[in-house]
Order: sequence, then C-alpha cells, then structure tokens
Amino acid sequence: MSLDDAALRDAIARTAWFHSMALRTGIVTPGAKSEALLAAEANAILGPLDLAGRSVLDVGAWNGFFSFAAKRRGAARVLATDSFTWRHPAYRGRETLELARGELGLDVETLELDPTELDTAPTGSFDVTLFLGVFYHLIDPIRAIQALRRITRLVLVIETHQDALWLRRPAMIFYPGAELDNDPTNWWGPNRALMCGLLRSAGFARVFYQDHPMAGPGGPYPLRRRGIYHAFADDAARSAAPAPAAWIDLATPDALQGLLVRG
Ligand SMILES: C[S@@+](CC[C@H](N)C(=O)[O-])C[C@H]1O[C@@H](n2cnc3c(N)ncnc32)[C@H](O)[C@@H]1O
Repeated sequence: MSLDDAALRDAIARTAWFHSMALRTGIVTPGAKSEALLAAEANAILGPLDLAGRSVLDVGAWNGFFSFAAKRRGAARVLATDSFTWRHPAYRGRETLELARGELGLDVETLELDPTELDTAPTGSFDVTLFLGVFYHLIDPIRAIQALRRITRLVLVIETHQDALWLRRPAMIFYPGAELDNDPTNWWGPNRALMCGLLRSAGFARVFYQDHPMAGPGGPYPLRRRGIYHAFADDAARSAAPAPAAWIDLATPDALQGLLVRG
C-alpha cells in the first residue's frame, strides 16, 4: 500500500535511522550518518568492485543503505542481514529497511541473523561480503572473520574503528565498559597489523587497506581511527578489480610502517 508524503514522514519519524537516505524527492531519513558520509563510504567500499551479476551479503545492514547501494551498482542478488538493531524495540531496524526498500523499489532480500550465527546458519556463499561497522561490536570478532572466510568467494570488505595505531605489533584494545563512544556494545579497537594478520590467517590471500575517506581533522573521525580493508580470497579474485591508488597492499614489506600514528 502506497503512503502519501505525510504518512511516509510519520512512519520515518516513528523509527530510528542510522542511514540518511532520500526515499522521495524532499524526504530524507534523518540518519546519524549523513548522505555525504554515506556517499563517500560507498565510493571507497563498493566503488572499486565490479558488482555486475555478483551476489552480496551485507552483515549488520541496519537501515540497508549498503545493501541498496550494492543493488544499484548492479549486484544480481543482495542479502541484508542483521539482528541487534532489527530486534531492538526502539530501533526497529528491520521495519526501517523494509520501509526504505518499498520506497526505493529495490529487490533486496532480508534474513534475521546475528553475526555470531554466521558459522552455523545455512546462508550459502557469496561473491562479496560486507562487514561494515560490526567488527568491534562483537566480543569474539575472530570467529566471525573465520566464518566469513568460509562463505566469501571473492572479497570481504571490513570497515572498522581502530586503536593501538602506535603499535607495530598486531594488537587490539579491549573496552570492557562504555569507554568507546559511551556505547557498551563496543568491545574492541584493532590496529592494522592485527587486522592484516587476522585476515591472512583466516585464509584471505591479499589484503588492501585505506583510511576511511572522512578520517582526519574536521571530519566525523578526527583521530583517523577508522579504516577500510578489502580482503581477497585469492589472486584471481583480486585481479577482477583494478587496485585504486588509495589502496595500500599490506603484503608490501614495511607497508604498515608509514601508517603508525601517535595514540
Ligand atoms: C555501526 S552499525 C553499522 C551499520 C552499517 N553496516 C553501516 O556500516 O553503516 C552496527 C551494526 O552492527 C550490528 N550488530 C551486530 N551485532 C551487534 C552487537 N552485539 N551489538 C551491537 N550491534 C551489533 C547492529 O545491529 C548494527 O546494524
């Protein structure tokens, strides 16, 4: 049933939004992430990948921006999954994704799935898997990465908060309380050496890193503690996409050396 503009605005106002998305001319969801931030993220995360005809799994999709972006970029099949914000009585995330999907007319499948269930759920495998803003929310992110390796055919993309960037050795900072952003669901701040080592040991052949496009002074992540990893299953998968200039190949000797920053 189609809503008139006033009813759509009411429906949007009744739920919580992380993603700012234009659902109709003049009607944009009031997400914590702005349209400009999301456009920059989509460009950095999906821009280098040829999604035409590919299958995409979006883990922790929330309102669905990246699922919709993958579909718009030609993916044949997109599965949006989430649980925490979808089941949360205040966020009602699944309802928000379904509202947006109806308005945008995009064929995105949904499945209620917690990332801790990735290793047991019969999801099948996907060409591209997205793990954006989820790593640090899990008490055991290592198990999730291992599960993602098993179901990723070509490339896993991780976007994450980072910490311990002054350490050369692989390390993660543990936040037992609400130290990070006053959010008790934030557990870990990995450094780049940790992410690279973890992805390689899970079985990804090539790992590329870039700073988040808005990490730096004046932006939403002023301390540069935000990064994006493209982890390819093998060299053949890697060659499907030209490597953008922004990508740092973490197999290059001393690649991480220039990335050490003060705490
Ligand atoms: C920061 S949002 C990221 C949303 C989207 N992927 C993005 O990058 O814009 C974190 C997502 O992780 C999910 N999540 C999974 N497990 C979680 C947990 N244990 N605690 C909090 N959030 C969790 C949330 O439901 C939410 O969709």
